[in-house]
Amino acid sequence: MSRVLLKDVRPYGVGDPVDVLVDGEVIAEIGPGLELDPAANVDEIVHAGGAVVLPGFVDLHTHLREPGREDAETVETGSAAAALGGYTAVFAMANTDPVADNAVIVEHVWRRGREVGLVDVHPVGAVTVGLKGEKLAELGTMRRSAAEVRVFSDDGHCVHDPLIMRRALEYTKSFGGVVAQHAEEPRLTVGAQAHEGANAARLGLAGWPAPAEEAIVARDCLLAGHTGGTLHICHVSTEGTAEILRWWKSREAAGRVSAEVTPHHLLLTDDRLETYDPVNKVNPPLRTDADVLALRRALADGTVDCVATDHAPHAAQDKDCEWSAAKPGMLGLQTALGIVVQTMVRTGLLDWRGVARVMSQRPAEIAGLTDQGRPVAVGEPANLVLVDPDAEWTVRGAELASLGENSPFEGMQLPGRVVATLLRGKVTAHEGKVRR
Ligand code: DOR
Repeated sequence: MSRVLLKDVRPYGVGDPVDVLVDGEVIAEIGPGLELDPAANVDEIVHAGGAVVLPGFVDLHTHLREPGREDAETVETGSAAAALGGYTAVFAMANTDPVADNAVIVEHVWRRGREVGLVDVHPVGAVTVGLKGEKLAELGTMRRSAAEVRVFSDDGHCVHDPLIMRRALEYTKSFGGVVAQHAEEPRLTVGAQAHEGANAARLGLAGWPAPAEEAIVARDCLLAGHTGGTLHICHVSTEGTAEILRWWKSREAAGRVSAEVTPHHLLLTDDRLETYDPVNKVNPPLRTDADVLALRRALADGTVDCVATDHAPHAAQDKDCEWSAAKPGMLGLQTALGIVVQTMVRTGLLDWRGVARVMSQRPAEIAGLTDQGRPVAVGEPANLVLVDPDAEWTVRGAELASLGENSPFEGMQLPGRVVATLLRGKVTAHEGKVRR
């Protein structure tokens, strides 16, 4: 068992720097000047220079593309991006090829994650067979598999049939599962290419109206309340959705409903359409300034529980083409922290404890992980991220670990650099390099 000393770190960015001694998989000691103690006898000292130390980030929404599109991402490259971005656990979405709608596929993804060993990879199981929305997948079998699937989603597609959604909520309730909904009423988004508003109209792009999301969110809150099932709303993108969630959560009898927002929806708007650059195409689409500000407020006050990346790498040929043919999606794992610092910390909406809440603690709680999102405290698992809050860096898609290069933040200077990431006491990333 190795012992790692994190020298000069500030838990949650508060107080004078201290040292954190990691012994094996747990935090053994926290205090000033630990390296002066000869008994400390450490294998490695990570000089952190006053970096903020937080629990490792947990991403409820990652596309790893394996199996099927290993030209866009693999479990290995996506795990590297995750570790470099400060993550210690990710949830790999089910829209692979073949779809992760059975025990064989989820166990394959789970095993690959363990073999790579950079981050805990939790496969998400599809809600319906082939993501077709017609017949429930074998949810119980996936739950009982080695992957112990707990979160189910047809992400990329909405579980639009209300009866199927009801049954999914009822069935997953029996084993403490979560249904993560991609809220998009498909009849309202036929042919949709961008947020329905003035920009799309001017450019002649078919619109994706806000109520297509909001109607499903309202419906599913009611179904969660009625069934007692647990619902998670993926990538909230509109002010109206935030208002519905606020209303629902204020009700005494509210069912268990949680929600996530992506970094790109916290920063970018449909003004990006001007360039016609498909790097800005994403589903749900980039919306308006008013939506962005409402989402930041909702994240700050807990109406939206957490940040999830919707990391969606694509091969060059699927993005470097005309807008209508391009696939929706953006890279997110290595830029999420920077965007959260820029939009939430530098604006005074969240402190570092708040960052830990929305990027680690809440996502771990939502997914039922007991060893992630824990406090930085003695006796807790050493799943940690060290962040230099003052360092700025410039995003270069080609330099990120993902195989896809589709970052909408290309060329942007972002604050907050990951100094190191530790998974169960093992350094998985340090100074921009992964360690296997
Ligand atoms: O933009 C998106 N890309 N939204 C989704 O819901 C799916 C994802 C993907 O798989 O590329």
